[in-house]
Amino acid sequence: LVGCGDDKPESKAASDSITMGFAQVGAESGWRTANTKSVQEAAKTAGIELKFSDAQQKQENQIKSIRSFIQQKVDVIAFSPVVETGWDTVLMEAKRANIPVILTDRAVDSKDTTLYKSFLGSDFVVEGKKAGEWLVKQGDAADVNHDGSIKVVELQGTTGAAPAIDRKEGFEEAMKANPKIAIAASQTGDFTRDGGKKVMESFLKSQKDIDVVFAHNDDMGLGAIEAIEAAGLKPGKDVQIITIDAVKDGMTALADGKINYIVECNPLLGPQLMGLAKKVVAGEEVPARVLTEETVFDQAAAKTALSARQY
Ligand code: AHR
Repeated sequence: LVGCGDDKPESKAASDSITMGFAQVGAESGWRTANTKSVQEAAKTAGIELKFSDAQQKQENQIKSIRSFIQQKVDVIAFSPVVETGWDTVLMEAKRANIPVILTDRAVDSKDTTLYKSFLGSDFVVEGKKAGEWLVKQGDAADVNHDGSIKVVELQGTTGAAPAIDRKEGFEEAMKANPKIAIAASQTGDFTRDGGKKVMESFLKSQKDIDVVFAHNDDMGLGAIEAIEAAGLKPGKDVQIITIDAVKDGMTALADGKINYIVECNPLLGPQLMGLAKKVVAGEEVPARVLTEETVFDQAAAKTALSARQY
């Protein structure tokens, strides 16, 4: 497979076996667990040998894994970047070794788009926008404390990660439609349940009359629920909660009335990723951007969808 110095790798025949190096972010959330399972199962089904590494949410670990995949001369590298910036050097190393790279789930912020073949995943700005639009639509019903303003606290994802940057941007854009909405405090909970709980505990101490929590994922929203309940308040009623992902635990809390709205982010990227990998390794053209289809859930929709939710 490895080319002899020219830019284009020799392509593999469809019958040749393919080895993929996959550098995962970590195991920080229910979404991530479902994503990992999807990638592992899809690789098996597609007959692709998977070398899997878990970066434990650290960019340096992910860079090490990518370098080791290059040394092992895998046929294709796929990864979901922990943060957006700082990838050019290692991606250039992969390019020089003629190993194609596919970004899954999260994008990199690089001017050189020849460093990867395709980016498969959600539009995080749209997800943030959908969350903000729902809040705008609630009008004064979102003013839980009846004080004339809608006070939001935001639980951000990992600092520097594409979903944290983009969801914030989308939400802030949408909320402009109602000048009563203001973000009173915003802090990272690192996409984890524990992080969401701790940040929410501190918000409940530092902020009076919080109307709404906007959590960048279900896990942080679930952590916030624990903090709200511990403070003697009712999540979903005394404080409204909007999250993103729609994993089973989030959907259960939504159906139980503890979350008010969830924007779906689809983790089941495995089958599409394997399809792209086969094409890329065979030297075929692939689209530069592959978007995943997603929906939204209110409490009634969650009740209907919950029993069929796989993850
Ligand atoms: O990149 C996708 C995000 O990462 C998911 O929303 C979150 O749960 C995960 O940790």
